[in-house]
Amino acid sequence: MKKTSVVFAASLIIFGCGTTLQTTAEADFNKKNHRWEGYTFAEFAKGRELYVGSCGGCHLLHRPAEFTEQQWSDILPEMIDRAKLGDAERESIFRFLITTKESYPSDIVK
Ligand code: HEC
Repeated sequence: MKKTSVVFAASLIIFGCGTTLQTTAEADFNKKNHRWEGYTFAEFAKGRELYVGSCGGCHLLHRPAEFTEQQWSDILPEMIDRAKLGDAERESIFRFLITTKESYPSDIVK
């Protein structure tokens, strides 16, 4: 009982801000066709890591499905600057967002 409340308290601290990003399983990822030739689960997971690690500091993470692909293209350059990242990271985050939006639209739950 005591242990449970400690774990619960810890998860509130980690996820307390409201937006939780669920993880897509590799097996599930590999079953689908993705837009980019040779796009691997490792690259997808890296994009996710960058997104969660760099884009949720100033505001809550936005759900990938919240914006169209064009809107993400327009928004990302400015946010990449704010997060002090470069072109490689922008592409990685962009692919993660578009893949999630197209294939796993409910992957970010509030
Ligand atoms: C240094 C703080 C900071 C960081 C880091 C940051 N943002 Fe933002 N973001 C903001 C602010 C401030 C706004 C709202 C005002 C604006 O749009 O300029 C915003 C707005 C947004 C919006 C909403 C835009 C709209 O038109 O409604 C999105 C989407 C977004 N950020 C995505 C990201 C992504 C993706 C990253 C990571 C690459 C990121 N942000 C990193 C500060 C930040």
